[in-house]
Amino acid sequence: MTRQSAFNKQSTAAEVVAELDLSGKTVLITGATSGLGLESARVLASRGAHILATGRTLAKVSAACSQVGTATTPLELELENHDSVRACADVVRKLGAPIDILLCNAGIMALPKLEQIRGIEKQFFVNHLSHFLLVNLLLEQVKRAPQGRVVVVGSSSAYKWAPPAGVEFDNLSGERDYTPNKSYGQSKTANGLFSLELASRLAGSGATSNSINPGPVDTNLSRHYPGWQRKVLGLIAGFFLKPVGVGASTQCYVATSPALEKTSGQYFENCNAVVPGGQMTNKTLAGKLWEKSTELVASHLS
Ligand SMILES: NC(=O)c1ccc[n+]([C@@H]2O[C@H](COP(=O)([O-])OP(=O)(O)OC[C@H]3O[C@@H](n4cnc5c(N)ncnc54)[C@H](OP(=O)(O)O)[C@@H]3O)[C@@H](O)[C@H]2O)c1
Repeated sequence: MTRQSAFNKQSTAAEVVAELDLSGKTVLITGATSGLGLESARVLASRGAHILATGRTLAKVSAACSQVGTATTPLELELENHDSVRACADVVRKLGAPIDILLCNAGIMALPKLEQIRGIEKQFFVNHLSHFLLVNLLLEQVKRAPQGRVVVVGSSSAYKWAPPAGVEFDNLSGERDYTPNKSYGQSKTANGLFSLELASRLAGSGATSNSINPGPVDTNLSRHYPGWQRKVLGLIAGFFLKPVGVGASTQCYVATSPALEKTSGQYFENCNAVVPGGQMTNKTLAGKLWEKSTELVASHLS
């Protein structure tokens, strides 16, 4: 286990990177138009990193980039569509720069009704499968960085909402039964397992993979909650939700800390490695998920 860091649940992302010079580093962030992704882009750019910022439309991500600064390249990436994932990866490959940090951050939560993309439940598709595809398409560029890092944003307790099996391979369509939180939990468990298996596959390459839990943060993630739930959340947010500047600290820490150069396959909360529960450390399941995911994205991988 990695040793205790100097940061904790009150640390801000800006504090975490305050001593660092990130000039010359290239950071790709998915979901850079809102919440934790936008804050991470802002903070990492403030230390000199060049941000490849992705958003669902070029107009939206260009607007976000104008808030971040000039060291940004806006890129269109719609995670509901694997043609878009492939096209985005092709642009990044053409840009050619090694990727020092690939921050898989974009996500959706608790869709009220079952929605599917190509027969797969949408949260699993967007949160896990599309990031699986994107990372695999860009992995050689991550490996070319002096110490490339993949950081996967998982979830707070959402893996506890997942089905007991962690990932139900016989119900990836969601058709057997669907509940918004259970499917979100499954997708976030998949995020953690993907990072775990990737760490094994990167062993010896110098590149690392870790996943993180930002904790409960005041962002737009609850947009799909029913109106009354959002109202309640709005009223009590100040009491238990972290402001976004604090919420982004763990992903910025794991993305940049010099102390973590050799740390891989770990899960972080409040800027420290912890051992998650549920199926999050199940290596057999992680391997099985990798095989299934490869099969599901095969047409876009080659
Ligand atoms: N906030 C929390 O309490 C919390 C807790 C645990 C984990 N997380 C995780 O943190 C990550 C960031 O979420 P957030 O809290 O910052 O929420 P957010 O403010 O809603 O930001 C989510 C980002 O993901 C993007 N996104 C959503 N669907 C997409 C798609 N199909 N294609 C491309 N981009 C898409 C959004 O773009 P649009 O705005 O254009 O849709 C937005 O930029 C998520 O993975 C979430 O699961 C958050």
